[in-house]
Amino acid sequence: MTAQLIDGNALSQQLRTEVAARAAALKAQGTTAGLAVILVGDNPASQVYVRNKVKACNDAGLHSVLEKYDASLTEAELLARVEALNNDPSIHGILVQLPLPKHIDDHKVIEAISPLKDVDGFHVASAGALMVGEVGFKACTPYGCMKMLESIGMKDLRGKHAVVIGRSNIVGKPMAMMLLAANATVTVTHSGTADLAHHTRQADIVVAAVGKRNVLTADMLKPGAVVIDVGMNRNDEGKLCGDVDFDGCKEVAGYITPVPGGVGPMTITMLLVNTMEAAERAAGV
Ligand code: GUN
Repeated sequence: MTAQLIDGNALSQQLRTEVAARAAALKAQGTTAGLAVILVGDNPASQVYVRNKVKACNDAGLHSVLEKYDASLTEAELLARVEALNNDPSIHGILVQLPLPKHIDDHKVIEAISPLKDVDGFHVASAGALMVGEVGFKACTPYGCMKMLESIGMKDLRGKHAVVIGRSNIVGKPMAMMLLAANATVTVTHSGTADLAHHTRQADIVVAAVGKRNVLTADMLKPGAVVIDVGMNRNDEGKLCGDVDFDGCKEVAGYITPVPGGVGPMTITMLLVNTMEAAERAAGV
């Protein structure tokens, strides 16, 4: 193996310790940072995610409220809950776990969250703030990827070419904006891209965020490139794996993130960072 691992667990630990210190400092001034998490229905993966988010909050000394509702909850009822949390001064961040049941318009629900409490960074105002470089909340997964790059000394990406594979609103598009803000030259590739390898072979940084195994293989990489794997898939044996052929790519890359233990823990960590930021802004710190 030639690549060095970027350890998402270790970096998360470090960042969560910093959040805990900020939470304690704010508490000493009379404000306990608070996150509300809403789960509708009984999607098993969502239940695990939500449990992990609430636990991470509590471990860092943040206050958290988990509201669980039956899948029969109406859209109007959910919108009323969001509105109540928008007006609750003990809550600084609101997260509505996706996917929502089909009878609820998730776009409408996300847009109902106050941008001041949009710690997921999914609101149109948050996406717009990122695009024009204004203060807002950054989507947690790409924000975590940027922290991973920073951790290996890649904060200013001037002169670097970054290739993003995937164009989702949650990862690919905000990822491209964050890389651009860090001065990288950015190429966004997707299902309509011809000859993906032609692009990735020129990349100093590749971020794979498609949700499909083996999207990136060793022959598609420039030696020494940094590989960030956002994927979360299962292989034929049922083991967790990313979008990247890890075993092949680790022999060519300079740095690579593992799955599990890479981007995954960073997403929750950045949710804590955003919630902390929201609480500090609300308290005027
Ligand atoms: N479902 C899967 N990932 C996420 C996430 O980061 N935030 C929310 N709200 N729902 C999700």
